[in-house]
Amino acid sequence: MEYKIDFLIIGSGIAGLSFALKVAEYGQVAIVTKKEAMETSTNYAQGGIASVFGHYDSFDLHIRDTLKAGDGLCRRDVVEMVVKSGPERVRELMEWGVEFTQENTGNQEFDLGLEGGHSQKRIVHAGDFTGHAIEQALVDSIRRHEHIGLFENHIAVDLITYSMRMKRGVVTAAHEDICCGAYVLDTKTDEVHTFHAKITVLTTGGAGKVYLYTSNPDIATGDGIAMAYRAGALVANLEFVQFHPTCLYHPEAKNFLISEAVRGEGGVLIDSRGRAFMADYDPQKDLACRDIVARGIDGELKKSGDDCVYLDISDKDPGFIQERFPNIYQKCLSLGMDMTKEPIPVVPAAHYVCGGVLVDIDGKTDIDRLYAVGETACTGLHGANRLASNSLLEAVVYAHRAAQQAVTDLESINGEVCRDLPPWDPMGTTDSDEAIVVSHNWDEIRRSMWNYVGIVRSNKRLLRARNRIGTIEKEIRQYYWDFKITSDLIELRNIALVADLIIQSAMLRKESRGLHYNIQHPEKDDRFWLKDTILRRPFVG
Ligand code: FAD
Ligand code: SIN
Repeated sequence: MEYKIDFLIIGSGIAGLSFALKVAEYGQVAIVTKKEAMETSTNYAQGGIASVFGHYDSFDLHIRDTLKAGDGLCRRDVVEMVVKSGPERVRELMEWGVEFTQENTGNQEFDLGLEGGHSQKRIVHAGDFTGHAIEQALVDSIRRHEHIGLFENHIAVDLITYSMRMKRGVVTAAHEDICCGAYVLDTKTDEVHTFHAKITVLTTGGAGKVYLYTSNPDIATGDGIAMAYRAGALVANLEFVQFHPTCLYHPEAKNFLISEAVRGEGGVLIDSRGRAFMADYDPQKDLACRDIVARGIDGELKKSGDDCVYLDISDKDPGFIQERFPNIYQKCLSLGMDMTKEPIPVVPAAHYVCGGVLVDIDGKTDIDRLYAVGETACTGLHGANRLASNSLLEAVVYAHRAAQQAVTDLESINGEVCRDLPPWDPMGTTDSDEAIVVSHNWDEIRRSMWNYVGIVRSNKRLLRARNRIGTIEKEIRQYYWDFKITSDLIELRNIALVADLIIQSAMLRKESRGLHYNIQHPEKDDRFWLKDTILRRPFVG
């Protein structure tokens, strides 16, 4: 089937849904999302959204904290723009129906949380299920909207680009290419549809599933980054993968995060003998930036040989803990742990990709009519390390800016070049009976990334990972041409590519900065490396 629309949005998290709500009055909108609409990282966000509302806070302080965390690689103009736009966007979320927790004073002020790297309390939250409150309100608004088509269980396979480069047979910049939409697999019927769109927006979220241990839900397979790269767009800073210091360590707790807000309320990291160790690593102790805390835990585990460390908030009032962290409290209790009485076992896990599809200050990629917003994009806000709770903020601010720009662009778009798009070529026609190959490769990629491209890296480990992933990629390529595509195969192809791009970026950066730490290059080198790591697919004419 073919669909012709004005705006194609790929992904239904905070970035995609808020973009959709803003452009819907200007044209026909289709949102394609690969599972149910709510199945997003947004839905699992706990801590909240960072923005300046506190009496002692200021834009300057939030800007300073963001720049400090980013370790020299943030774009100052982006940081200033995002921070200053924050309060307005938070109020807009409330207009869309999100209920943030207020202080008990009756003054209609937010109850602001504190997280690592923030010099002030500035995390606006809805209990400890902020993301769910946001996602639910946005999905409800979208479902009520008559100009927005929501296609659940539809996974985008690849972008459709019209290449001026191919036409002329010469190598020019990708910004001369035009994005005309995407091929999308309906996972219920196994049909691939062509979505022709005047504007296409990648809002596909992160890539935590590239790693064996992650806080991310299963949808986070880096599809947007992979599709953009294959289409010839620039991707940047993929070596900066953020490991959240505290994911619950329990065999039955798949991907469950223990919010940094727990440390913000006084939780302390201790080892198996009960010793608080973070003072050994940073004067800010448990509230140092994430890279420092995650490396601290990694160091402790390597020294002790233990499987996990512990997070202890049991000296606080039990009533307060239950009220402030209802979600975390209940989850731990369901696994037989009472956090009001005992420390919780925690380990670091892959959480957030700071790099992504390179965009300008309006969310535009270097392919015409293609935007990227949210975790899949690299805007310059996070630099080498994202400050806690700046991600939801970035997503709503950029959705707003990109929507404004896209509406302006729409007026000047001539649909002609995208009129006669090639239909989907089904390639392999045989059903694969080797699902085991897919799951085996998935596992091997994620294990290699965890073992060799984790919190602490070395030249040798990176090379080993590159070789292994390279072999798997070849196998996947063959598999991809021989068999009918499935969502598992699409995701496998994407995680393999994103894993490879992370490794390539990590190998290029010959220093340690922010989230990237290489034991052969342990120092920061501002003379050569105060710059982004940018990759583009080699041109094949
Ligand atoms: P997502 O919300 O991840 O949405 C991506 C969407 O794209 C999904 O609908 C997915 O199905 C869809 N998709 C992906 N690929 C395809 C494809 N090929 N075809 C069709 N659809 C596709 N950040 C904060 O600022 N504060 C927090 O407190 C916080 N807590 C977090 C807690 C957890 C457990 C996690 C995992 C993350 C947290 N983060 C937090 C990070 C933040 O939640 C995410 O970065 C943010 O929600 C990303 O939003 P998004 O819209 O870009 O992507
Ligand atoms: C958390 O609640 O610790 C997650 C915050 C974030 O990822 O920004």
